[in-house]
Amino acid sequence: MNNMPSNIQSSKQQIIETILTGTAHTKQLATATAFAPANIALCKYWGKRDQELNLPVTDSLSISLGDKGVTTTITVSDQADQIILNSKQLPVNSPFGQRICQFLDLVRPPGMFFQVVTSSNIPISAGLASSAAGFAALVKALDQLFAWRLTNQQLSILARLGSGSASRSLWHGFVLWQKGERADGMDSYAQLMPIAPTEWQDLRVGLLIFSSAEKKISSRVAMQVTVQSCPFYELWPRQVAKTLTELKQALATQNFVALGQATETNSLAMHALMLASWPAIIYSTADTLQAMQAVWQLRAAGVAVYFTQDAGPNLKLLFLAEQQAEILAMFPNIQLINPWI
Ligand code: PMV
Repeated sequence: MNNMPSNIQSSKQQIIETILTGTAHTKQLATATAFAPANIALCKYWGKRDQELNLPVTDSLSISLGDKGVTTTITVSDQADQIILNSKQLPVNSPFGQRICQFLDLVRPPGMFFQVVTSSNIPISAGLASSAAGFAALVKALDQLFAWRLTNQQLSILARLGSGSASRSLWHGFVLWQKGERADGMDSYAQLMPIAPTEWQDLRVGLLIFSSAEKKISSRVAMQVTVQSCPFYELWPRQVAKTLTELKQALATQNFVALGQATETNSLAMHALMLASWPAIIYSTADTLQAMQAVWQLRAAGVAVYFTQDAGPNLKLLFLAEQQAEILAMFPNIQLINPWI
């Protein structure tokens, strides 16, 4: 079942052992359930300094999506692993099944198997951060199952081993993932930004979903192509530093326009890197570009609305609750999300 090369599995294994040393391990439940929210990066993570441990080149900053995310129930079994995603059983050798089983191999006591039942209320694999929420929910459920009682910071490191952006899905609100410096990544985890929800309670996220189909190029591959071939990639850390300064300032001063501008610029800069890579990667479709134009049209008419785009054609809009009517009039099919629910 575990066909990951042993040196890769062993560097991950060492991290698991470091984290689990001294955990209580007193009680083991038969089953455990946990929820984790999806998160949308306002300042993107794009490029790894370590492929296997998902260590990023830069810091990144996200907002979690409230009650939109993934719920996972994990149950101990004495048969083979079973993965059920949105009520459908997946072959364990499917790409998603393999990722989950390889992750479980890292923590699996000898002879123990698991049934993993996962349900997502956001589309899977369409650049909507469902794998982030998925791995965060899985580590939270494992923490309960084995009574590890890990801190969120430790769970963030474990979740990162499954998917980089999962490190940010352990919290609600604004979350900063610090890249860390260490080769083993023990200082690469996310943290909650000290901002009270009340300060940004009017902030809303809107999902414009043009396609729920699985993306053709995974973010892992796209990052690799960008880092290896984009002639401008060396400028990216500087752009991220600028975005983060602007975002932190905007958050501290509750300046929504500054938050939106920094977010939209950062997203466009990330996609510009991909456009200048070889082979070029374009996640946008005609629908994406049309929606961008519509956002700019709304802004020209005085509506403060900004977009951000991840590794897929869909857009996420940022706006304030008081402008919901104008947003709905332009985008009747938008899925509205209150990040504080
Ligand atoms: O964690 P991954 O491998 O799904 O990569 C996430 C990449 C982006 O969503 C585009 C950016 C981000 O920071 O979430």
